Amino acid sequence: MTRPIEAIISLANLQHNFSVVRRLTPGARIMAVVKANAYGHGAVRVAGALAPLADAFGVASLEEAVELRDAGIDKPIVLLSGVFGRAEMREVARYGLGTVIHCAEQLQILLDTQLCQPIDVWLKLDTGMHRLGFTPDGFRQAAARLRTAEQVANRVFLSHLACADNSSEDLNERQLTTFRNTIDELGVRSGDGLSLANSAALLTRPDMHFDWVRPGVMLYGVNPLSGEVPLPEGVELRPVMTLHSRIVALQTVPAGESVGYGEGWRAPGLLNSSSTSPSRIAVVAAGYGDGYPRHARNGCPVLVNGRPAAIAGRVSMDLLTVALGDDQQAKVGDTVTLWGEGLAVESIAAYSETIAYELLTGVNQRVKFSYE
Ligand SMILES: Cc1ncc(COP(=O)(O)O)c(C=O)c1O
Repeated sequence: MTRPIEAIISLANLQHNFSVVRRLTPGARIMAVVKANAYGHGAVRVAGALAPLADAFGVASLEEAVELRDAGIDKPIVLLSGVFGRAEMREVARYGLGTVIHCAEQLQILLDTQLCQPIDVWLKLDTGMHRLGFTPDGFRQAAARLRTAEQVANRVFLSHLACADNSSEDLNERQLTTFRNTIDELGVRSGDGLSLANSAALLTRPDMHFDWVRPGVMLYGVNPLSGEVPLPEGVELRPVMTLHSRIVALQTVPAGESVGYGEGWRAPGLLNSSSTSPSRIAVVAAGYGDGYPRHARNGCPVLVNGRPAAIAGRVSMDLLTVALGDDQQAKVGDTVTLWGEGLAVESIAAYSETIAYELLTGVNQRVKFSYE
């Protein structure tokens, strides 16, 4: 029998979330970030649903871009980490892609390579995250070299924010100032192709929208603001992935007995006491071998037949265990929602010492995907 765990992807909710972005950024173009298999949702299906709406797509690698082109996506696609050699640069041109250039080595590869057609180059400035990008001086020199290079069709200038999810961080202001100053010194203006905002900045900082916004996680219905800060007034995002499975066994566990590996949860009450009622445990076909987080603590929420219940015991590879409430009816085969509609993936992340991005990208091939 096939394991009953399933990810249901709502393309209607995806399109709704995209329309939220469009409403919030009426003057900007939108690059929908679909790297890492569209944050685990299925890049071809997601890009297909957004192709009539988005102005461009952002991916992590040439392979991800080619998958979309081969599937018939003809909108601009940009490699957000750039290329790893001249052969890849030639493929970028052959497939009509664009690429980030974030370091001297990539710049040299571009300038040394003959291309079958000019490509769009997204030149990246490091404004303080210190991950990818040129220093302000290196950026100005690179921009000058690109201005006259025959390999270049259009130039876009971008940077990436380290703390946009936390609006009280000083680094946000410093990054914006460095971005503005460097761009000003270059003589480039808004309208010439500037890009800074990811989802969090898009929601909280209209002054960071510039010409292109680059939403990722919010398209998938996740609130990108950390610390349980609510979405701004009037913004409603809908979950795109609902992960659910079914109950495969029910257990009655006497007071004081434990459940699962390492005795990770113990039924309340005294061992061998007749005065405490036993706990009812539902065993669910979902585990870390599917991408459900092993670190989910006791108490992590699930929905059993739509009603709240909580993880009890360690998540194992194929199974997890849930304590049912006293009044909760459940039988083998009943549906258990692990996240999505009615249960925000952000809450599962909070119980698992991780972020929603990791959970969504971690759902793996064992899980059946269906699209509606
Ligand atoms: C360069 C770049 N832009 C935009 C995004 C989208 O970020 P988010 O998913 O937080 O909106 C990412 C994702 O990490 C990124 O690397």
